[in-house]
Amino acid sequence: MLTPPILLRLVIVGTAILVAACGPAPVAKTGGDEAGANLDGRGLYAANCARCHGGDLKGTTLGPPFLDAVYARGHHADAAFAIAVKNGVRPHHWNFGPMPPVPGLTDQQIALIVAFVRAEQEAVGVR
Ligand code: HEC
Repeated sequence: MLTPPILLRLVIVGTAILVAACGPAPVAKTGGDEAGANLDGRGLYAANCARCHGGDLKGTTLGPPFLDAVYARGHHADAAFAIAVKNGVRPHHWNFGPMPPVPGLTDQQIALIVAFVRAEQEAVGVR
């Protein structure tokens, strides 16, 4: 089970964070406050992306799997992730509809998420 440092969580200003790092529970997004400023890549992914892309990165009814070859580094460079998070995505590969922008994540946090996704892709041979 994942146990991000408790202290780091306490540092975060503002509202209670919906900590989804340990489970697949859907996270209600009401803005950027609960983005999880000090979670690691896995935790940030769980809190912000897993709802649609799946806790196991295999997708959901709301979004595509990151373990698909189309999201390998050569097809979607790391920059594509930052752009997707900031601007959202118009549907073009799938029929899930658009991805809305995910507010409240810093560049550094997005980089942590990408590193997590790349590691998971690597683990199953998507590269
Ligand atoms: C509300 C659902 C939803 C959430 C939350 C979500 N996504 Fe997506 N995302 C989608 C859908 C749907 C697509 C597929 C669009 C398409 O048809 O190509 C997508 C596509 C993408 C793509 C591909 C972009 C491209 O250029 O083709 C990236 C990268 C991505 N998402 C990253 C993320 C990251 C990182 C997070 C979390 C910070 C996230 N998404 C959260 C629904 C979501």
